[in-house]
Amino acid sequence: MCSYRLHAEYADSTPLKVRIDTHERYSEQPDDPTADVLAALDLTGTEHLADIGCGDARFLAQLAGSGHQGPLVGIDTSPAMVAAANAVPGVRGVYGSADRIPFDDNSFDTVTARHMLYHLANPVAALREFRRTTKPGGTVAVVVNHPGTCPHTTELVAAHAATYGIGAAETVTMTVDSDTLPALMSDVFGEVRIRRTDNALVFDTPDPLVRFAEALFSFYGVTPNHPRRQAILNDLREDVEDWFAHHPGRTWRDPKGYIVATTVVDHQGSAPAAST
Ligand SMILES: C[S@@+](CC[C@H](N)C(=O)[O-])C[C@H]1O[C@@H](n2cnc3c(N)ncnc32)[C@H](O)[C@@H]1O
Repeated sequence: MCSYRLHAEYADSTPLKVRIDTHERYSEQPDDPTADVLAALDLTGTEHLADIGCGDARFLAQLAGSGHQGPLVGIDTSPAMVAAANAVPGVRGVYGSADRIPFDDNSFDTVTARHMLYHLANPVAALREFRRTTKPGGTVAVVVNHPGTCPHTTELVAAHAATYGIGAAETVTMTVDSDTLPALMSDVFGEVRIRRTDNALVFDTPDPLVRFAEALFSFYGVTPNHPRRQAILNDLREDVEDWFAHHPGRTWRDPKGYIVATTVVDHQGSAPAAST
């Protein structure tokens, strides 16, 4: 059930682009998870780097554009995202899942998984794959959101979906967050460094908030071809416009944030059992 909604959410890159653009433009503090990951990794530019769940490959495009010389690979379960990665000069897109990475042991110097691990039913299986495919001494960086990030907008979308009989059972659940990731990573890798960012989305007009809310629809069961999608969107827009009309001069402020968790892979260390 969930995987169908996840598939719908990432069938094309538009909702993801809307969400990333919204975070770039409407955050209270400058929002740049890419810069945080780069600061945590301290790349030389020669690394063989795999970005797992690469999305529209903008991170890899930025690396390629800034002169990264080592091979750059984007791995994703969405064919549209793999195509987007393959369209970037200097980047190879590969279809594959984080919990079964289609590469040999010790393939990469660096593995990144940014805002994707929470989509895995078994995130630990993916962490083990990151460890398996990273060379000894290589680095793994994982970005996940704080629990309940953007609670007001997600509650708004869930409430409007519920009005049309779409319940919590149809919601894509996030399986790991910034509270739970550090311990999971420590179990798999040992020592983990954490960089934490706290921020908020801030809207002072309805349009960008409605656009952001719509970009979350598939996560709440309102898939692109859902027969009531337009009705739900119309109701939500009316609700948001009412909110701004009744709160003159106020902004819609939604707390959010993420961590970048980084670790150096030591294959001599405590290798976890391959179960779970
Ligand atoms: C929120 S987007 C993040 C995209 C990109 N990493 C970024 O930060 O802009 C999540 C991405 O993970 C991909 N994804 C979801 N489940 C996956 C899995 N099991 N293995 C690989 N990619 C997956 C989705 O198709 C989507 O492109």
